Amino acid sequence: MLTRPPLPNPEEYDIDIETGFVPPNPTELPAYYAPWCNLVSDLPSLLQSKTLRAKVDDLASLQIDQLNLQEHWQRAYVILGFLTQAYVWQEKENPSAIVPASIGEPFLKVCEHFGTAPVLSYAGGSLWNWTSVAPGGHANPLETLGNFQALKSVASFTGTRDEDAFNLVPTMIEARGARLVQLLLNAIRDSQNGEQQDLVSVLDICARTFSEMAGLLPNLHDNCDPMFFFSEIRRMLAGSAGAELKGLPDGVTFQRSNGHHEVVRCVGASAGQSAFFPFLDHLLGVRHESKFLLEMRAYMPKKHREFLEAVELLPSLRDLVHDQPQDAALQTAFQLAIDAFKHWRTKHVVVVSRYVSQPSKAQANGKPMVEAKGTAGSLPIPFLKQYRDETTFTPTP
Ligand code: HEM
Repeated sequence: MLTRPPLPNPEEYDIDIETGFVPPNPTELPAYYAPWCNLVSDLPSLLQSKTLRAKVDDLASLQIDQLNLQEHWQRAYVILGFLTQAYVWQEKENPSAIVPASIGEPFLKVCEHFGTAPVLSYAGGSLWNWTSVAPGGHANPLETLGNFQALKSVASFTGTRDEDAFNLVPTMIEARGARLVQLLLNAIRDSQNGEQQDLVSVLDICARTFSEMAGLLPNLHDNCDPMFFFSEIRRMLAGSAGAELKGLPDGVTFQRSNGHHEVVRCVGASAGQSAFFPFLDHLLGVRHESKFLLEMRAYMPKKHREFLEAVELLPSLRDLVHDQPQDAALQTAFQLAIDAFKHWRTKHVVVVSRYVSQPSKAQANGKPMVEAKGTAGSLPIPFLKQYRDETTFTPTP
């Protein structure tokens, strides 16, 4: 008898039923870590005065044994990830190829804890980097995550609302889409159990959710200035791989307190490291030729990566729709869901054109230019258009 792949339980993979890959209860670090927290609170002014490196050089080494909760580890990853990027890129023309042990050693350990590459990634910049502006916290996480005015970043290079929007609009979009995680898994479970199910309603919810996700993008357009993003925020997210021309020919060396060191070459943070979108791609049967986003999996927390691996053993909703060619309503509902997903990707191409391609042309000011790359290293527009065009469905005639 053929064994069916087990349905993964999202909660076993650090995925919340309500908020998905976004943790619902971001939490302060214990008081012991005040030296890290103080530095990150002052990050914008320390970067402006170019004094962050000196402060980090003087920082006492703290142990990681006071990180008691998974939320503490997440917060430590955010703080140390931002401090590391700031240390390297404080001076644009003169990046530091060394990260001292005071932050480098605990950062390496925190990355080992999460099974992720030793660099600030999308999880640190966006998913785990939210908090509520209200002093009382966030009694209703999903509601808070739906309102940009209620949110701010825990860590920020510039301390601006522009950067809050850049960091947190992806977080809001993932939280808005989170309901699809259990919904799609349940649809697969019901079909595996041979249960009668209303797939048309499931697909209607998908279509509605995709358009709500796209509907959150104005929060980015209204709050984040493209030139400011391009010149001030983006440069702080740069990775150490392929950074020869930026002054890092040999990556970045993390020092350890025992005199050992580790050489790292990583790309920068990008929502291309999200696990949510590959999850949707798989369960909606959208296949991509490019292997670029597979490479990005090394930058996801291991649990999210393992969740995707478990999901990818399951059949897709496209397979279920395919098996019922006579059901015209089902074919139409699937088409509408895929169209809405594609529409989200079209809106995202517009974002990337506004925030990367246009500022890069403006900066070149008519001089010959090489196309600006994404923070994760892709040539964004052709790559993202291909991703969008592969988000397609032709109903059975
Ligand atoms: C200023 C805002 C943004 C810029 C400049 C931007 C840029 C990019 C770039 C350049 C890539 C290609 C990978 C790389 O080289 O980094 C990418 C991929 C991606 N971005 Fe964005 N992005 C932005 C906003 C968003 C938002 C708000 C989301 C929502 C979650 C998002 C989700 C994604 C996803 C899922 C991918 C992978 C490709 C796909 O699945 O279609 N991005 N982005």
